[in-house]
Order: sequence, then C-alpha cells, then structure tokens
Amino acid sequence: MDKLLVTGGACLNGTIPISGAKNAALPILAASLLLTKPTQLHRVPHLRDVTTMIQLLRNMGLDLSYTPEKNRLDIHHATANHFVANYDLVKTMRASIVVLGPLLARYGQAEVSLPGGCAIGSRPVDLHLKALEQLGAQIRIEHGYIYASAKNRLRGADIVFEKITVTGTENILMAAVLAKGNTRLQNAAREPEVTDLAQFLNKMGAKISGIGTDTLEIEGVDELTGGDYTILADRIEAGTYLVAGVVTQGQVKIEGINPDLLTVPLQKLQDAGAVLSHGDDWISIDMRNKTIKPVDISTAPYPGFPTDMQAQFMVLNAIANGPSTLSENIFENRFMHVNELNRMGANIHLNGHLAICKGHSTFVGASVMATDLRASASLILAGLAAKGDTLIDRIYHLDRGYEMLEKKLNHLGAHIQRIKG
Ligand code: UD1
Repeated sequence: MDKLLVTGGACLNGTIPISGAKNAALPILAASLLLTKPTQLHRVPHLRDVTTMIQLLRNMGLDLSYTPEKNRLDIHHATANHFVANYDLVKTMRASIVVLGPLLARYGQAEVSLPGGCAIGSRPVDLHLKALEQLGAQIRIEHGYIYASAKNRLRGADIVFEKITVTGTENILMAAVLAKGNTRLQNAAREPEVTDLAQFLNKMGAKISGIGTDTLEIEGVDELTGGDYTILADRIEAGTYLVAGVVTQGQVKIEGINPDLLTVPLQKLQDAGAVLSHGDDWISIDMRNKTIKPVDISTAPYPGFPTDMQAQFMVLNAIANGPSTLSENIFENRFMHVNELNRMGANIHLNGHLAICKGHSTFVGASVMATDLRASASLILAGLAAKGDTLIDRIYHLDRGYEMLEKKLNHLGAHIQRIKG
C-alpha cells in the first residue's frame, strides 16, 4: 500500500490549476446510462472513484474510452445490457448508488448493492428509495441488495425530501427526466454539483427548471441524446489548496475555478487573516507574515459551509492564535481525523458533534493513518505545517478524490514523496 512522506516547513508559493469535480463527474458519468447518442465529457478528473464508476458502467455493457492525460471520456455506445452494481464495487465507492435512478428510468430495472456504513457514519439511502417509490418504482431489499423495478415507465410525482440529500437529489433528477409527466422535487440539494448535473441533463435534452434552487421542476421527455460537456471545477480541491497556503503562511493562486462556488469558505479564510483576491476564474490568497486567527465553523448544506472542508479548517484552527469550535451538522461521525491531529500536536476535544480547538499548537511530524478522503487531506495539511516528517498510511483514500495531489503541492514548493508499497 502506498504511503506519503511529507516533510514540513516549506512555505507554499505559486499557481496551480483546479481539476474537474469528483462529485460532479460521478453523477454525470452515471447519467450516461440515459443517453442514446455518443457523448464527450471534458475535465473528467483522473481519480480512483472515477475509474471505479467507469468500471461499473463497463460491467453494465457501456462502451467508454477514457484518456486520463486529456481528462476526456468518450461514451461511444451507452446501451446497458446488465443492470447490476455489485457489492465489490459499491463497497469501494458509496456514490455508486447514483446508477439506481438512471437504470430504473431507462431500463425499468436495477439491482444495486446497499452501500452500508462508512467511516463517517451510517449514511442510509432511505430517502432515495422512498422518492423512487413515489415515482412508481417497486423496491425490495434482499441479501444486501436493492432490487428495483418499474414495469411501466416511471411516473412524475410531487416529492418533498424530509432532509436535504445530495446524491438523493441526483438520483431522483436522473429518474424523473425520463418519467411520464411532471415531477416537482422540493427541499432539493442546491450543491453546485447537483446544478452541474442538471445542466448536463438539459444539454442532452432534459427539461429541468428551477436549477440552483431548492425546488426542481422536471418535465419528463422520451429520450436524451448526447453531446459535449465540460465538468465543473472541484470547489473542495480548491478550498484544500487555499488552506494549504494559509497553514504554510505562503501565497497560493488557483486557476480554473469560479470564486462564487466558495463564498462561505473564502469568507472564513479572510476571517483567518488571509488577504484574498480573485477574478472570474481564479482565486489567490496571501498569508505571508500574517498571524493565523481562529474561525468558528458550522457545517450546513450548500450554500453553507461544506462538511467536505471541515477537516481541513480544523488544521488551520489548531495552529491559530486562539480557541475555536467546529460544529459538524451533516454526518454523525466525521471527526476521525481528530485523534491523528492530536497525535501530531493539536489540542482538540470532542463533545458530540462539536470539536473544541484550543489553538496555539505546533504540529510535529508523526506516522499517521488516513481514515477517509477529507480526513486524509487534513493530515497532508498538518504535515505541511509540521516540524519534521509525517508519514501518512492508507492514502488510497486521497487517491479517490485528489488528482495529482503531490505533484500539485510539490509544484508550490512542498516536499511530498510517494513511497510505493
Ligand atoms: C454527498 C457528497 C459528499 C458530501 C455530502 C454532503 C457525493 C458523491 N458525495 O454525499 O462528498 O460530504 O454529499 O455534502 O456527492 N441521509 C439520510 N437518508 C438518505 C440520504 C441521506 O438520512 O437517504 C442523510 C445522511 O446520512 C447525511 C445527510 O443526509 O446525514 C446528508 O447526506 P447526503 O447529502 O445524502 O450525502 P451524500 O449524497 O452521500
């Protein structure tokens, strides 16, 4: 298993590009199950989760070719002949659940392994299933699999999510675009990745309105065609590199990202003392010779502070010049990184969904273990800010979601080495 050796102390400086968003690429790839014509996707990040999704779609019979050097995916022929997402793939990537909606909509049948729990909590999919039933699907769960069918075409319905769910919204969108009649989906997730999927679907012939709001109206159509589409930039990757600039007291510019995707995290970086500037598709922070100030964080659905940035901001708060609190309101158990950060010198106490960060800490390199994707990112950030060497084990989590992580950070002056194992 590969490890990363991070030698701390470098002050990051320079410019790097932002890759396509993992969380937009995955549902858009799943949406290829709905298409009848060849399609080209651009800015598809080369990540383990993306290759897992490609594998899943190939297993279903789709003819795809991926050119990672160009971040281009060609969907040659999108007709599936096998409607199963098996446990072996789903257990490595929970987001596989997003094939359920499109399979049901186009083929009237799907067999998808239940994702089960994961490092950050139980993460049920009950809301996806309930909403699909409202669209007319019959669903039963047996032997750890979801067996879903819709003998006649799915039918539009009025659906109100009792809780905001990102992949749930995506599943229902993909199901409703080919349903008979109109669907209204209320309390929908407004995450930019949901918006990107909706825009993709519309470009392929769907009729979705209310995009970007919490009420999506979908008029079912008979078929989606194909075309060209460029995936949205990854706001979480962008935010992670900006925090890297802050915790190393450097100067970092990121390109290819609209700052409007990160309004709340950027405000927090400013509150932490960073000097920010931005254009339509770039953001730059300057933290040289400045004191890092603590910022209180409370995670919420978009446009609130993203839970996927909570771990990274905890690193910033650990070395800030005062105390802070981080409240995790989306997932029940998303503080796995705290023990490892404390082992590196942080002073963070947990009280239920609240992390209390004392601040004034100095990170010192240690051997640590990555537990999930964003927790791994926080260990890299702590390693960059630390004195000495940090050896991070189980970095396959990082490879799921950060494209060329060590290459990008090393380009900014970091010292990160991949140790093949
Ligand atoms: C997506 C993102 C993930 C991000 C999360 C929250 C992808 C591939 N992943 O995950 O990176 O951290 O949104 O922004 O886009 N819930 C239920 N029942 C359901 C569905 C969800 O109770 O049927 C709960 C979850 O347990 C959680 C909350 O709703 O507490 C939000 O989860 P959800 O938005 O569904 O997260 P994901 O879509 O899995």
